[in-house]
Amino acid sequence: MCRPQTSKQNYPSQVIAVIEIVDLCKSYGNVDALVDLNLKIKKGEVFGFIGPNGAGKTTTIKILATLTAPSSGEAYVSGYDVTEEPYKVRGLLGYMPDFFGMYDSLKVWEYLDFFAASYRMPQAERRDAIENVLSLTHLEEKAESFVAGLSRGMRQRLCLAKTLLHDPELLILDEPASGLDPRARVEIKELLNGLKDAGKTIFVSSHILPELSDICTTFGIIEKGNLLLSGSKEKIMEAIRGVRRIKAKVLSDTKKAASLIESEKGVGSIKIDGKEVQFEFNGSDLELARVFENLVTAGVLIVGFSEIETNLEDVFMKITRGELA
Ligand SMILES: Nc1ncnc2c1ncn2[C@@H]1O[C@H](COP(=O)(O)OP(=O)(O)OP(=O)(O)O)[C@@H](O)[C@H]1O
Ligand SMILES: [Mg+2]
Repeated sequence: MCRPQTSKQNYPSQVIAVIEIVDLCKSYGNVDALVDLNLKIKKGEVFGFIGPNGAGKTTTIKILATLTAPSSGEAYVSGYDVTEEPYKVRGLLGYMPDFFGMYDSLKVWEYLDFFAASYRMPQAERRDAIENVLSLTHLEEKAESFVAGLSRGMRQRLCLAKTLLHDPELLILDEPASGLDPRARVEIKELLNGLKDAGKTIFVSSHILPELSDICTTFGIIEKGNLLLSGSKEKIMEAIRGVRRIKAKVLSDTKKAASLIESEKGVGSIKIDGKEVQFEFNGSDLELARVFENLVTAGVLIVGFSEIETNLEDVFMKITRGELA
């Protein structure tokens, strides 16, 4: 269970991160949605927050967006405490929720104008701001259309446009591509890439890791309220080194090859897939070279022998299955 809130520590750190989360806890009754979450996200980072359903992603995001109070711990946006200075924080970030209403009876530009006014943007500045976000999200031609007539992908882009109106430094996007077809997902990804290039700091959640793997610079993997691993793609890959997967493509008897491989030191689970023998290997390069040599010596005809590249999805599955310390 979350601890009661104690006095504030010496946070945020001297070097101000765009997001700093310190020992953050959130309980709903006896459900611990977040347990001692610690996270620091620097300017320009694109942070992918990955976790299965119910992991605590939306809870974290709502705390950062000042919409839910933490049970204990602290969270800062550009040095401002989300509980003590929520209005300052709101001005600094653009938040795109996982579910949102759309005011179907408004035209696209009216919808954006409504939000621009809510951001207290002077009327003289609104027109340019609206044109700018419509262009960024490729919705210029829909300016006069009613929101009711937009496809799901367009609605998602319109919500992103609304999020960008006040040109925030930080974007917090809760599953921005959920429910979209592959083409619309690619469009959202391209938009995010553009925003990344423009130097925005982006905190984006997803339960589908490959969706984010090529645009994010850093990742956090969360499950049942616990941050299991965080850091750069390289760091996360590093964490699973030692459980390499190897594939040997053979011309001769695959069963014989598999049984020879199985008897080698460092070999874990093994499977035959057509003419390929795939196995987990926990050993040095020299030991792996010996496996290869022994196969050849035993008369196995090998046409390919290589490491199966581990992708982030494999890492995610391994981590959330508790296969890594
Ligand atoms: N308002 C609430 N009242 C009670 N329990 C809640 C509430 N909001 C979230 N929870 C619980 O907190 C936990 C974390 O939920 P959260 O919505 O943060 O997960 P998530 O990672 O966003 O999941 P999803 O991928 O399904 O969106 C879950 O066990 C959820 O049931
Ligand atoms: Mg969620």
